[in-house]
Amino acid sequence: MEYEAVRAADPAVADALEAEVDRQRTGLQLIASENHVSRAVLEAQSSVLTNKYAEGYPGKRYYGGCKYADIVEQLAIDRAKELWGAEHVNVQPHSGTQANQGVYYAMLEPGDRILSLDLTHGGHLSHGHPANFAGQLYEVEHYSVDADTGRLDYDTLATQAATFEPDVIVSGYSAYPRVVDWNAVQDIAEDVDAYHVADIAHITGLVATGAHPSPVGVADFITGSTHKTIRAGRGGIIMCNEEHADAIDRAVFPGGQGGPLLHNIAGKAVGFAEALEPAFETHIEQVIANARAMAAELDARGLEVVSGGTDTHLVLVDLRPSHPELTGGEAAEALEEAGITLNANTVPGESRSALDPSGIRIGTPAITTRGFDTATAKELATLIVEVIDDPLATESVAERVQELCADHPLYE
Ligand SMILES: Cc1ncc(COP(=O)(O)O)c(C=O)c1O
Repeated sequence: MEYEAVRAADPAVADALEAEVDRQRTGLQLIASENHVSRAVLEAQSSVLTNKYAEGYPGKRYYGGCKYADIVEQLAIDRAKELWGAEHVNVQPHSGTQANQGVYYAMLEPGDRILSLDLTHGGHLSHGHPANFAGQLYEVEHYSVDADTGRLDYDTLATQAATFEPDVIVSGYSAYPRVVDWNAVQDIAEDVDAYHVADIAHITGLVATGAHPSPVGVADFITGSTHKTIRAGRGGIIMCNEEHADAIDRAVFPGGQGGPLLHNIAGKAVGFAEALEPAFETHIEQVIANARAMAAELDARGLEVVSGGTDTHLVLVDLRPSHPELTGGEAAEALEEAGITLNANTVPGESRSALDPSGIRIGTPAITTRGFDTATAKELATLIVEVIDDPLATESVAERVQELCADHPLYE
């Protein structure tokens, strides 16, 4: 993959781009929110639509020359409807965070109440962390996962909701490896007269293929990112019933954003079309099978897998029981040396800090896109344990990682 025009114009950026291609090719990406999009998605995202202003929506723009922009955005909307079955879809949010912002802006007044999962238990900044706009504009209380089981406790959530009386309950998470019971959260939300926002940023692909139950038709609003498990162009998406369509569209534009990133929307359209192919269902099954294989192997080799396993694309490991002296950050750094990229993560009952947490999060979307099967995923888990157990193993593991990368080429 070469960037000839960039090289001619700007060698410094070309160097960085080519080095990044090399980094992705010669390393294994286990960050659960990442993936490798197709060349078609890459091409669409870098298309001339980056030049186009198209404030408004298909057929109702504030600028001329939007004929092709309309085609592309409508294709993205139609394909999203087919993938997730929602009545109304807005594909303009610039990111998953902007999608959540759009819903809050549409439905809440400053000072209204949000009940969401604690960041250290798997929630997201945009669910109301004090460092995020949502934590500053709204009154936020967090619920937790059960410290022993690592799972959501819907009875406790119901009690907390009854006391706090939120206006919005957010479900859907960044680091929760288990199936979410959308109906249980919806019942709780209805009991306290709150809206239910299901943020499926991480599991868009799993929900689209039916590998995880869908909140569409259950929750009031469904938000997400489009570049994670669904493997489409980078950005966000909001889904809802017709009842809320106008409020959501107005909140996204002009409420919170200006012109849509049409090149990214083109990438969304292309990625959604790919996800509608039968092969995508097989891919997602493999993503989950790989995560399960890795969880089982990590567990067999003595690591504490939060909740005892996974139903999704991610595995959360609490390093404290097996490696009390090792932080998640240290483990991630050692693994990076070996060519394995993942992130340090907080774990339920976190005793360190968000900056230097006790766990690591492992995701299988990107390696599965590269063609990893369960046997290779299992081997990768053993390599991870080798590095965590003994930093001296880094060199030999790095050699094996290079072989695995060569056997599973990327962007050839
Ligand atoms: C649950 C959840 N919501 C929202 C987001 C934000 O997505 P983005 O990075 O696209 O803003 C993330 C990001 O990982 C996430 O995990």
